[in-house]
Amino acid sequence: MERHSKRLGLLVDDLLSLTQLESANTELELNQVRVKELFNNLIHDWKEKFAAKNLKLVVDLPPDLQTIRADETRVQEVLYNLLENAVKYSREGGEIRLQAARRGSEIVLNVSDDGIGISRDQLPRIFERFYRADKARSREHGGTGLGLAIAKHIAQLHGGRIEAESELGRGTTIRVFLPSDL
Ligand SMILES: Nc1ncnc2c1ncn2[C@@H]1O[C@H](COP(=O)(O)OP(=O)(O)O)[C@@H](O)[C@H]1O
Ligand SMILES: [Mg+2]
Repeated sequence: MERHSKRLGLLVDDLLSLTQLESANTELELNQVRVKELFNNLIHDWKEKFAAKNLKLVVDLPPDLQTIRADETRVQEVLYNLLENAVKYSREGGEIRLQAARRGSEIVLNVSDDGIGISRDQLPRIFERFYRADKARSREHGGTGLGLAIAKHIAQLHGGRIEAESELGRGTTIRVFLPSDL
Protein backbone atom coordinates (compact mmCIF):
# COMPACT_ATOMS: atom_id res chain seq x y z
CA MET A 1 0.00 0.00 0.00
CA GLU A 2 2.76 2.41 0.91
CA ARG A 3 4.65 1.48 -2.24
CA HIS A 4 1.47 2.02 -4.19
CA SER A 5 0.80 5.50 -2.89
CA LYS A 6 4.42 6.49 -3.37
CA ARG A 7 4.14 5.42 -6.99
CA LEU A 8 0.93 7.35 -7.45
CA GLY A 9 2.63 10.43 -6.00
CA LEU A 10 5.46 10.14 -8.54
CA LEU A 11 2.95 9.79 -11.35
CA VAL A 12 1.10 12.90 -10.22
CA ASP A 13 4.39 14.84 -10.06
CA ASP A 14 5.33 13.78 -13.58
CA LEU A 15 1.88 14.51 -14.97
CA LEU A 16 1.87 17.97 -13.44
CA SER A 17 5.31 18.61 -14.84
CA LEU A 18 4.25 17.54 -18.33
CA THR A 19 0.95 19.43 -18.21
CA GLN A 20 2.76 22.56 -17.17
CA LEU A 21 5.33 22.15 -19.95
CA GLU A 22 2.55 21.77 -22.49
CA SER A 23 0.56 24.79 -21.45
CA ALA A 24 0.94 27.54 -24.01
CA ASN A 25 2.27 30.13 -21.61
CA THR A 26 5.22 28.12 -20.36
CA GLU A 27 8.24 30.31 -20.29
CA LEU A 28 11.80 29.40 -19.66
CA GLU A 29 13.71 31.11 -16.97
CA LEU A 30 17.09 31.42 -18.59
CA ASN A 31 20.18 31.76 -16.44
CA GLN A 32 23.91 31.26 -16.74
CA VAL A 33 24.18 27.72 -15.49
CA ARG A 34 27.47 26.55 -14.05
CA VAL A 35 27.77 23.09 -15.54
CA LYS A 36 30.12 21.77 -12.89
CA GLU A 37 27.72 22.75 -10.12
CA LEU A 38 24.81 21.28 -12.03
CA PHE A 39 26.67 17.99 -12.43
CA ASN A 40 27.75 17.96 -8.78
CA ASN A 41 24.18 18.45 -7.58
CA LEU A 42 22.99 15.58 -9.72
CA ILE A 43 25.81 13.31 -8.62
CA HIS A 44 24.90 14.11 -5.04
CA ASP A 45 21.26 13.13 -5.68
CA TRP A 46 22.22 9.79 -7.19
CA LYS A 47 25.24 8.86 -5.09
CA GLU A 48 23.51 6.26 -2.94
CA LYS A 49 21.78 4.58 -5.86
CA PHE A 50 25.11 4.38 -7.68
CA ALA A 51 26.78 2.81 -4.68
CA ALA A 52 23.93 0.35 -4.12
CA LYS A 53 24.39 -1.02 -7.63
CA ASN A 54 28.14 -0.68 -7.58
CA LEU A 55 28.07 1.63 -10.60
CA LYS A 56 31.04 3.63 -11.74
CA LEU A 57 30.44 7.20 -12.82
CA VAL A 58 32.62 8.93 -15.37
CA VAL A 59 32.17 12.69 -15.73
CA ASP A 60 33.48 14.44 -18.80
CA LEU A 61 33.35 18.21 -18.69
CA PRO A 62 35.72 20.18 -20.94
CA PRO A 63 37.50 23.05 -19.16
CA ASP A 64 36.28 25.59 -21.72
CA LEU A 65 32.64 24.81 -20.99
CA GLN A 66 32.04 26.49 -17.66
CA THR A 67 28.57 27.88 -18.14
CA ILE A 68 25.65 27.35 -20.47
CA ARG A 69 22.57 29.48 -20.91
CA ALA A 70 19.50 27.47 -20.01
CA ASP A 71 16.65 27.08 -17.56
CA GLU A 72 18.62 25.52 -14.73
CA THR A 73 15.72 23.86 -12.90
CA ARG A 74 14.42 22.32 -16.09
CA VAL A 75 17.78 21.14 -17.39
CA GLN A 76 18.37 19.62 -13.99
CA GLU A 77 15.06 17.78 -14.33
CA VAL A 78 16.13 16.43 -17.73
CA LEU A 79 19.45 15.12 -16.48
CA TYR A 80 17.83 13.80 -13.34
CA ASN A 81 15.44 11.73 -15.47
CA LEU A 82 18.24 10.51 -17.71
CA LEU A 83 20.40 9.48 -14.78
CA GLU A 84 17.43 7.76 -13.18
CA ASN A 85 17.03 5.64 -16.31
CA ALA A 86 20.75 4.98 -16.58
CA VAL A 87 20.79 3.70 -13.00
CA LYS A 88 17.59 1.68 -13.39
CA TYR A 89 18.57 0.01 -16.65
CA SER A 90 22.20 -0.64 -15.74
CA ARG A 91 23.53 -3.93 -14.57
CA GLU A 92 25.34 -4.32 -11.29
CA GLY A 93 28.89 -2.95 -11.66
CA GLY A 94 28.11 -1.00 -14.83
CA GLU A 95 29.49 2.33 -15.95
CA ILE A 96 27.58 5.56 -16.49
CA ARG A 97 28.94 8.58 -18.30
CA LEU A 98 27.79 12.14 -17.83
CA GLN A 99 29.21 14.46 -20.46
CA ALA A 100 28.93 17.99 -21.72
CA ALA A 101 30.47 19.31 -24.91
CA ARG A 102 30.24 22.02 -27.49
CA ARG A 103 29.26 20.86 -30.98
CA GLY A 104 29.22 23.72 -33.44
CA SER A 105 26.40 26.05 -32.48
CA GLU A 106 25.01 23.61 -29.92
CA ILE A 107 25.74 22.34 -26.47
CA VAL A 108 25.31 18.62 -26.04
CA LEU A 109 24.64 17.04 -22.69
CA ASN A 110 24.68 13.29 -22.67
CA VAL A 111 24.16 10.38 -20.38
CA SER A 112 25.37 6.93 -21.44
CA ASP A 113 25.21 3.57 -19.80
CA ASP A 114 26.40 0.08 -20.66
CA GLY A 115 23.21 -1.49 -19.41
CA ILE A 116 20.44 -3.58 -20.91
CA GLY A 117 19.78 -1.35 -23.92
CA ILE A 118 16.66 -0.90 -26.04
CA SER A 119 15.74 -2.89 -29.13
CA ARG A 120 15.83 -1.24 -32.54
CA ASP A 121 12.06 -1.43 -33.03
CA GLN A 122 11.28 0.12 -29.65
CA LEU A 123 13.87 2.87 -29.78
CA PRO A 124 11.82 5.34 -31.89
CA ARG A 125 8.99 5.19 -29.34
CA ILE A 126 10.72 5.78 -26.02
CA PHE A 127 10.01 9.54 -26.01
CA GLU A 128 6.26 8.97 -26.23
CA ARG A 129 4.34 9.54 -23.06
CA PHE A 130 3.68 6.37 -21.07
CA TYR A 131 5.70 4.29 -23.51
CA ARG A 132 7.79 1.68 -21.81
CA ALA A 133 9.92 -0.76 -23.74
CA ASP A 134 9.49 -4.29 -22.45
CA LYS A 135 6.46 -3.76 -20.24
CA ALA A 136 7.10 -6.50 -17.71
CA ARG A 137 10.69 -5.52 -17.20
CA SER A 138 9.89 -1.83 -16.87
CA ARG A 139 7.07 -2.40 -14.40
CA GLU A 140 9.42 -4.32 -12.19
CA HIS A 141 11.75 -1.28 -12.21
CA GLY A 142 9.05 1.23 -11.28
CA GLY A 143 8.66 4.59 -12.99
CA THR A 144 5.88 6.35 -14.81
CA GLY A 145 6.89 6.14 -18.46
CA LEU A 146 6.89 9.95 -18.56
CA GLY A 147 10.53 10.78 -17.81
CA LEU A 148 11.71 10.90 -21.41
CA ALA A 149 8.56 12.66 -22.65
CA ILE A 150 9.29 15.40 -20.09
CA ALA A 151 12.95 15.52 -21.11
CA LYS A 152 12.00 15.88 -24.78
CA HIS A 153 9.59 18.70 -24.02
CA ILE A 154 12.18 20.60 -22.03
CA ALA A 155 14.79 20.22 -24.79
CA GLN A 156 12.27 21.52 -27.34
CA LEU A 157 11.26 24.46 -25.17
CA HIS A 158 14.90 25.51 -25.32
CA GLY A 159 14.79 25.24 -29.11
CA GLY A 160 16.80 22.05 -28.85
CA ARG A 161 16.21 18.35 -29.34
CA ILE A 162 16.89 14.98 -27.82
CA GLU A 163 18.23 11.80 -29.41
CA ALA A 164 18.70 8.23 -28.36
CA GLU A 165 21.18 5.65 -29.50
CA SER A 166 21.03 2.15 -28.13
CA GLU A 167 21.92 -1.44 -28.71
CA LEU A 168 20.07 -4.21 -26.95
CA GLY A 169 22.28 -5.78 -24.32
CA ARG A 170 25.03 -3.20 -24.87
CA GLY A 171 23.80 0.10 -23.51
CA THR A 172 22.17 3.40 -24.26
CA THR A 173 23.19 6.99 -24.88
CA ILE A 174 20.73 9.86 -24.66
CA ARG A 175 21.91 13.20 -26.06
CA VAL A 176 20.30 16.52 -25.32
CA PHE A 177 21.18 19.32 -27.74
CA LEU A 178 20.62 22.92 -26.69
CA PRO A 179 21.36 25.95 -28.85
CA SER A 180 24.45 27.69 -27.48
CA ASP A 181 23.23 31.18 -28.40
CA LEU A 182 20.17 31.39 -26.14
N1 LIG B 1 19.03 4.06 -20.28
C1 LIG B 1 18.07 3.21 -20.66
N2 LIG B 1 18.35 1.90 -20.88
C2 LIG B 1 17.38 1.04 -21.29
N3 LIG B 1 16.09 1.38 -21.48
C3 LIG B 1 15.76 2.67 -21.30
C4 LIG B 1 16.72 3.65 -20.87
N4 LIG B 1 16.08 4.84 -20.77
C5 LIG B 1 14.80 4.61 -21.11
N5 LIG B 1 14.59 3.31 -21.43
C6 LIG B 1 13.32 2.71 -21.88
O1 LIG B 1 12.46 3.76 -22.28
C7 LIG B 1 11.24 3.71 -21.54
C8 LIG B 1 10.74 5.13 -21.27
O2 LIG B 1 11.59 5.81 -20.34
P1 LIG B 1 10.95 6.84 -19.33
O3 LIG B 1 10.11 7.79 -20.11
O4 LIG B 1 12.04 7.43 -18.49
O5 LIG B 1 9.99 5.95 -18.46
P2 LIG B 1 10.24 5.04 -17.16
O6 LIG B 1 9.38 5.63 -16.12
O7 LIG B 1 9.80 3.67 -17.57
O8 LIG B 1 11.68 5.11 -16.81
C9 LIG B 1 11.58 2.93 -20.27
O9 LIG B 1 10.45 2.27 -19.76
C10 LIG B 1 12.62 1.94 -20.77
O10 LIG B 1 11.98 0.82 -21.34
MG1 LIG C 1 12.49 7.08 -16.46
